[in-house]
Amino acid sequence: MVSKSKIKKKKQDDNVQSYFFLLSGENPELASYEFESIVSTLNILVELKISPDNRVIVFQIGSNMQKTSSSKIISYLMKRVTLVHFSCKQLFQVDFKQFPPQSFHELISTIDTSAVRDLIPHTSFSVFTKRIGEPIEIHKPRLLTQELSSYLGTQIIQKNPTKRVKLDNPQEQFITILSKHGLWFGQLVSHSLRKDVQQRAAHKRPFFHPSSMNPLLQRTMVNLTALKPGEWLLDPFCGAGGALLEAARLGIHSIGVEINRKIIWGAYQNLKADKIANDQTHLIFGDATQLSFKKGSISAVVTDPPYGTASSTRGFDLQDLLITFFREIRPLLGPKARVVLAIPSKIEIEDQIAQILHASYRKFLQYVHRSLTRKILVFIIPEKPNKHFYSDNRKWK
Ligand SMILES: C[S@@+](CC[C@H](N)C(=O)[O-])C[C@H]1O[C@@H](n2cnc3c(N)ncnc32)[C@H](O)[C@@H]1O
Repeated sequence: MVSKSKIKKKKQDDNVQSYFFLLSGENPELASYEFESIVSTLNILVELKISPDNRVIVFQIGSNMQKTSSSKIISYLMKRVTLVHFSCKQLFQVDFKQFPPQSFHELISTIDTSAVRDLIPHTSFSVFTKRIGEPIEIHKPRLLTQELSSYLGTQIIQKNPTKRVKLDNPQEQFITILSKHGLWFGQLVSHSLRKDVQQRAAHKRPFFHPSSMNPLLQRTMVNLTALKPGEWLLDPFCGAGGALLEAARLGIHSIGVEINRKIIWGAYQNLKADKIANDQTHLIFGDATQLSFKKGSISAVVTDPPYGTASSTRGFDLQDLLITFFREIRPLLGPKARVVLAIPSKIEIEDQIAQILHASYRKFLQYVHRSLTRKILVFIIPEKPNKHFYSDNRKWK
């Protein structure tokens, strides 16, 4: 039996606003890196706490931040991010790090429900519990989520007698995330735009090419650049323009380069048909290995170079094409520039690219189908030129 006092409880500090986000379970590491990259575009000091399984991020905004600004920040994050399901304003959190509860009774004894006092009166609400990851070893696990939701619902009513439960279309939704690492409870702020992005499938555009990447991953890649709205990115192998379209939706300007006349014409049709892409989205009919931009002028590259049967390398070996490209582009990249690249996992070229760019890198694997697992690589150019480079495990070589 675990005594109540032993369990580390976390009561909400009134001066700090905490929000939690449920990250997608498909690729939690990529999800938390995407989130961190977007947060780095905010010019504010925030504290991020990531659960050990990379599924829950708690975002704390300091007391000096006005409530209206914090809701603007959450709305900005939720409009950008792809690998998050929803965000909640946190009411309380329990950390199970040392003492995971063994029974339902023990679980509820860890919860300090004083945080559900003084909620907005006279409104309808629902409570939903989402279990993630490996189950916590608890008596009657099948009923756990229902029991917990109904316990918390009862607590809300006891402390706010004018509120009423309404499961269908309530005015407020409270969500508990339960994992073996802890419990997070809060009020739903919003769902991410993930489903909207998924619906914009590449085949629905005026011009479709089988090499087109799905818009969700394209947007994730744009987010990994950590660019702010108004900044510029380059896609040197832009194909039908998927990255440029997603960048435009985030207010990021872009330049796409494409060597195939028919495909660049298709990209032009796609951009023209999309009202969001505007005069800050440019296309260049040319060769990615012969770019003539100003030295140090590029702050981000997002690209999905040709491979497989759908897109042609025009007789070049992909590795040779990439090495030539990276040698050409190196002087054009500015300090702290990021290069986000998607290639098949079997192509082992990241160390060579890192050496050419003198960059550190992160690597994420993404299963696409039986015969393709993609590697998403994010290279980060150092602020000052350096002879050495970081490897993926972030140790000096
Ligand atoms: C995988 S596709 C890009 C797909 C794109 N991300 C999309 O979603 O539509 C790669 C593109 O690179 C183009 N390409 C091949 N060699 C090139 C080069 N040297 N310079 C510029 N584009 C090139 C191919 O014609 C192809 O359209």
